[in-house]
Amino acid sequence: MVQFEQSKALKRLPEQFFAGLVKKVERLMTEGHDIINLGQGNPDLPTPQHIVEMLQQTAENPKNHKYSPFRGRAELKQATADFYKREYDVELDPETEVAILFGAKTGLVEISQCLLNEGDTALLPDPGYPDYLSGTALANANIETMPLLEKNHFLPDYTIIPQEILKKAKLLFLNYPNNPTAATANKAFFDKTVDLAKRHNICVVHDFAYGAIGYDGKKPQSFLQSNGAKDIGVEMYTLSKTYNMAGWRAGMAVGNSSVIEAINLIQDHLYVSLFGAIQEAAVHALTADQEPVRQLVDTYESRRNAFVEKIRAIGWDIKAPQGTFFVWLPVPDGYTSEQFSDLLLEKAHVATAPGRGFGEHGEGYVRVGLLDSEERLREAGERIAQLSLFEKN
Ligand SMILES: Cc1ncc(COP(=O)(O)O)c(C=O)c1O
Repeated sequence: MVQFEQSKALKRLPEQFFAGLVKKVERLMTEGHDIINLGQGNPDLPTPQHIVEMLQQTAENPKNHKYSPFRGRAELKQATADFYKREYDVELDPETEVAILFGAKTGLVEISQCLLNEGDTALLPDPGYPDYLSGTALANANIETMPLLEKNHFLPDYTIIPQEILKKAKLLFLNYPNNPTAATANKAFFDKTVDLAKRHNICVVHDFAYGAIGYDGKKPQSFLQSNGAKDIGVEMYTLSKTYNMAGWRAGMAVGNSSVIEAINLIQDHLYVSLFGAIQEAAVHALTADQEPVRQLVDTYESRRNAFVEKIRAIGWDIKAPQGTFFVWLPVPDGYTSEQFSDLLLEKAHVATAPGRGFGEHGEGYVRVGLLDSEERLREAGERIAQLSLFEKN
């Protein structure tokens, strides 16, 4: 068999940091150990039944067995615009300011190919969701990282970005509520972002994957709620987390019409849009009663409280996350994030994601996903407590 060489673009793709962890977890599980797997970001609960039923019905309609319109169904774009108006009081033109995506991931990777030429610069959060790096690598762009530090509430400090980098930058990726730090951003921060981006002509890409998941009664802020945001950026939304539809692959890019056109154009060449029945079910998810979303957020909040309580009880001073379904745990002195994650896996049979996998500034933390029942999360806390990592004062 001939071994064909991969293209230079593929060879530039970053290595999958977490592949090793996944293997280790699988090995322990096949050995029969009861592993509490909090290392991944895959929602554990099912899609609400009324959405599944809509898919079942619409899957039977022969209209949906044909190719979908290339740029997605008008009804789904309208439902997205209505959703943004209802949830965030943001006006969107469904035809020019909404693009339908196979999940936010697709849009986040495509956007670099849409807007960057070889050697252009993109600003990326560190730590950050790894796919921003995949897109910039395929586009052969340069990246500059923006450290997300606890002392700045895990927001980038724009004042430390050198002027020559701001002059060169064409894209700026943000993500709040944030994976992996679980931090949220307020309007003042997004206003500052719009101002910076306008001064330097940088396109902002706000990844709003956890847009629905905010705690203590605080609804996360959309980037598009800031004045002028649509002039200078787009937001990527997804049904994956809000409606537990990660496997369905349904998302949308919304905002600046020139960017939306660029995304639609690349997608005209890469795909035909989503299966029509999924689009109809997505319309239903966005427009039906949102009670299941409220219940889901309550579930994550109870899990958060259960886990944080157990961890604090052993003298580990951690901050309760404000959004997402993650807890960003600072690693005790004397361990790297990988060593500590290994220790939790080997000794407590609790899988977590080492922060280093999300970037240099993820070192010193592990990410815990609140993606098992409250009972299992309590048990994870108890198992960690038994490691006697901290002595109570
Ligand atoms: C920050 C962030 N962005 C995007 C995604 C991907 O979302 P989607 O399922 O819509 O591709 C995830 C999924 O884990 C995520 O954590």
